[in-house]
Amino acid sequence: METATKDTKSKDYQQQKKGHPSGDKRFKQLDITMKRNQYRQDSLIEVLHKAQSVFGYLESDVLMYIARGLKLPLSRVYGVATFYHIFSLKPNGAHTCVVCMGTACYVKGGGEVIKALEKELDIKVGETTADDQISLMAARCLGACGIAPAVVFDGSVAGKQTPEVVMEKIKGWQE
Ligand code: FES
Repeated sequence: METATKDTKSKDYQQQKKGHPSGDKRFKQLDITMKRNQYRQDSLIEVLHKAQSVFGYLESDVLMYIARGLKLPLSRVYGVATFYHIFSLKPNGAHTCVVCMGTACYVKGGGEVIKALEKELDIKVGETTADDQISLMAARCLGACGIAPAVVFDGSVAGKQTPEVVMEKIKGWQE
């Protein structure tokens, strides 16, 4: 039976084990990377790299999750993330579209989706449209391979995407 006497360490471990409260499976991948590094604080850069590849950019929720996992002050995590220009904290666009380019998604058509988006939006992956409306990013495996190809629209993961379906969504944003 659970008691209220558990120490903080064990509470943190339990929270980490449960993943992110949103249930977003991408956080599981961060857990795996942190665990592989035995939650060592000097693995921060590697974990940030993983986070950027999974999420496309480092939103504050992700930085907080990493800070808690590695037991580092949030200011330190922010400091490192802002120091290196390879990390991007925020896409510039009002909307974000992150296309998974992991193997399962690529094989199931993620590459076609990204090509169609680049053409329609007239930008490359990592860029934002001239009107600052849409940022296009790529990620490596969102942990949703069962519904490949997956695309994240403004933080919501959508599965079995085709260029047509994605275009509809984007058009909705452009109206
Ligand atoms: S490869 Fe895209 S979700 Fe895993």
